[in-house]
Amino acid sequence: MILFYVLFCCIKIILSYNYTEHFIDVPIDHFSLSTNVTFKLRYLVVDKNYIKGGPIFFYCGNEADILVFYENTGFLMDIAPIFNALVVFAEHRYYGKSMPFGASSLSSPEKLSYLTTSQALADFVVLIDSLTKEYYKTMISSDTYPVIAFGGSYGGMLAAWLRMKYPHIVLGAIAASAPLLQINNLDICESFYRVVTDAYRRNGNCSYPIKVSWEAIRNITKTPEGKTAVSEVFKLCKPIKNDDDTDRLIDNIADTYVTLAMLNYPYFTEFLTALPANPVKSFCDKLKSFDTVNTSLDLLKAISSALEIGTNFSGTIKCNDFTTPSNANQPTDYAWDFQACFELIMPLCSTEDIMFEFTNWNYENYTKECIKRYGVIPYTPESVLVKHGGKILKYASNIVFSNGLNDPWYTGGILKNISDSVVAILIPDAAHHYDLRGSNPVDSKYVIDARKFHIKQIKKWLNI
Ligand SMILES: *[C@@H]1O[C@H](CO)[C@@H](O)[C@H](O)[C@H]1NC(C)=O
Ligand SMILES: *[C@@H]1O[C@H](CO)[C@@H](O)[C@H](O)[C@H]1NC(C)=O
Ligand SMILES: *[C@@H]1O[C@H](CO)[C@@H](O)[C@H](O)[C@H]1NC(C)=O
Ligand SMILES: *[C@@H]1O[C@H](CO)[C@@H](O)[C@H](O)[C@H]1NC(C)=O
Ligand SMILES: *[C@@H]1O[C@H](CO)[C@@H](O)[C@H](O)[C@H]1NC(C)=O
Ligand SMILES: *[C@@H]1O[C@H](CO)[C@@H](O)[C@H](O)[C@H]1NC(C)=O
Ligand SMILES: *[C@@H]1O[C@H](CO)[C@@H](O)[C@H](O)[C@H]1NC(C)=O
Ligand SMILES: *[C@@H]1O[C@H](CO)[C@@H](O)[C@H](O)[C@H]1NC(C)=O
Repeated sequence: MILFYVLFCCIKIILSYNYTEHFIDVPIDHFSLSTNVTFKLRYLVVDKNYIKGGPIFFYCGNEADILVFYENTGFLMDIAPIFNALVVFAEHRYYGKSMPFGASSLSSPEKLSYLTTSQALADFVVLIDSLTKEYYKTMISSDTYPVIAFGGSYGGMLAAWLRMKYPHIVLGAIAASAPLLQINNLDICESFYRVVTDAYRRNGNCSYPIKVSWEAIRNITKTPEGKTAVSEVFKLCKPIKNDDDTDRLIDNIADTYVTLAMLNYPYFTEFLTALPANPVKSFCDKLKSFDTVNTSLDLLKAISSALEIGTNFSGTIKCNDFTTPSNANQPTDYAWDFQACFELIMPLCSTEDIMFEFTNWNYENYTKECIKRYGVIPYTPESVLVKHGGKILKYASNIVFSNGLNDPWYTGGILKNISDSVVAILIPDAAHHYDLRGSNPVDSKYVIDARKFHIKQIKKWLNI
């Protein structure tokens, strides 16, 4: 079963504004006096709506090229005119162009050892300090920096942590779909897949055939002829040769279901792969059109065909690269996998009533796998929450935690109001950090209300 899911989502929209690209020198190691080596951290600036004295809206980049987040976080640009705000998207170290050791950044445990949340937050602090010096030359020392942090998913965790750890640097944070409490939380390890299953149950009642399909795959691939047949059905680039390949096929199919649920937005979206509006419903509808399923192989044919909603919506994909380990192809996946191994340990498991194969989660096994892959020994699973906060929030202030109830990650979010200024809002019909996306004519009232709530809070923090 898959260990980690990339938390972000990747959909491109046509933008009506431009950014400029910049780089700032930041220390590779913020916490050591024995080295002063720096690297170039990339950030994007949208100054179209900036008027002198306006605040800075600072997006805390997460686990991908910052352009992905720029393209998927139109909310900041949408509301910038209300505030005369400068919008900045900061790239996370080890992603995109922000590579501390250039092309070899991911090549050894030594080089990867600067890929930590503490270092990433410190990068943002250096950048914000530099921006405020550039934009608020006349600021007196007692002033607060008028900076609001934003982030979605892991970026939402970073935004919340930035406010908690550096309240003198950011005035408040909008943390969307930030599954802080998924970290080291075995109690809710099955919730993620349960929400995914519910999505397939609600949007066309197709969780049952999915559940059956795993056994069908395992049954048929026991024989060499079966391996060939299943490889053909799923149009695999590299046919199944052994049980590991079967595991990978199953992981990749499961991963596709998760992606459709996370990105279950009500309008067409496009990035590396194009997705129709309401992709989960599209999948189930397509599966249903194969109503006379006679054999297990027929079922797999039907599933394979419906899966093209997620893997081949463009109709341009020749074959499915489903037997390659999922983290082996992309540097981004590799860096995120490392982070999920080392610091952001979020247990996911599955039970019999969930549409995925049964899996349990066990810290020793997980650790063993991580050591094997990266040669690093994970921190204790909770250390990131101990270091930055997350479980005890009553001393924090000025944070909005928003979660969409259609997002598999929501169960790990902060779902209750903590105080007057640390508030949780729940968006009934929203997928993964929907509220940070640019406005769209089909946005629901709930999503629109959530965005209004954010604006109100930001006004309060800025005292306007
Ligand atoms: C963005 O930049 C391009 C090239 O500089 C320019 O042609 C275009 O008009 C700009 N778009 C907006 C919305 O400012
Ligand atoms: C780093 O340290 C070296 C000597 O240890 C010094 O020559 C250099 O100027 C320093 N660089 C920066 C950016 O501080
Ligand atoms: C949903 O699917 C299950 C299994 O395929 C079937 O038994 C059940 O009747 C279906 N429910 C509805 C409401 O269609
Ligand atoms: C898998 O094989 C077992 C044993 O032959 C059989 O009982 C079961 O129905 C099969 N399941 C599927 C989904 O093909
Ligand atoms: C199942 O069998 C029926 C009758 O033989 C056939 O018409 C139908 O196409 C088959 N279904 C699939 C998915 O192959
Ligand atoms: C993708 O769609 C095209 C057009 O329908 C089809 O020819 C091709 O076989 C599909 N590829 C995969 C991997 O599903
Ligand atoms: C740990 O991994 C071993 C070997 O893969 C497996 O047999 C065992 O069941 C796993 N333990 C748990 C609790 O998942
Ligand atoms: C938290 O408080 C706000 C009002 O400040 C309210 O709109 C929201 O519904 C509350 N959230 C929860 C989860 O009760």
